[in-house]
Amino acid sequence: MIKWDPETHGVGIRELDEQHQRLAELINRIGEAINNGDDPESLRSLLDVLVQFSEFHFFTEEHYMAQYGYHGEASHRQGHHHLVDQLLTLRQDIATKDKADAQHIIDFLGYWLTQHILEMDRPLGYWLRAKGVK
Ligand SMILES: [Fe+2]
Ligand SMILES: [Fe+2]
Repeated sequence: MIKWDPETHGVGIRELDEQHQRLAELINRIGEAINNGDDPESLRSLLDVLVQFSEFHFFTEEHYMAQYGYHGEASHRQGHHHLVDQLLTLRQDIATKDKADAQHIIDFLGYWLTQHILEMDRPLGYWLRAKGVK
């Protein structure tokens, strides 16, 4: 489960921080569903919601990057493509995972979000704040 910490996970841009918290909530909801032993179909629909909201969120960041001429735009966009691919792979595989994989999937999703925030979104946040975005 992701325990949201503004000090660690915040990027300092209100809209992006709100979207990241929404992503963390969706991931935690998937974690609960996995722990409850929900059937693969319900897990798939929860993952569909996560994919959709992720794409919307990535679009928001990419819009900021284009608008402010961010130097790291190309690699950051590539990072987003990779994240979506990872979710789609998980969506496909989730039916064949057994209970032993449950904790692994939950850990994976936590890492999926927080590592990208730390490596790519925080530097973008610094940049945008320097440009006067809040
Ligand atoms: Fe990002
Ligand atoms: Fe992000």
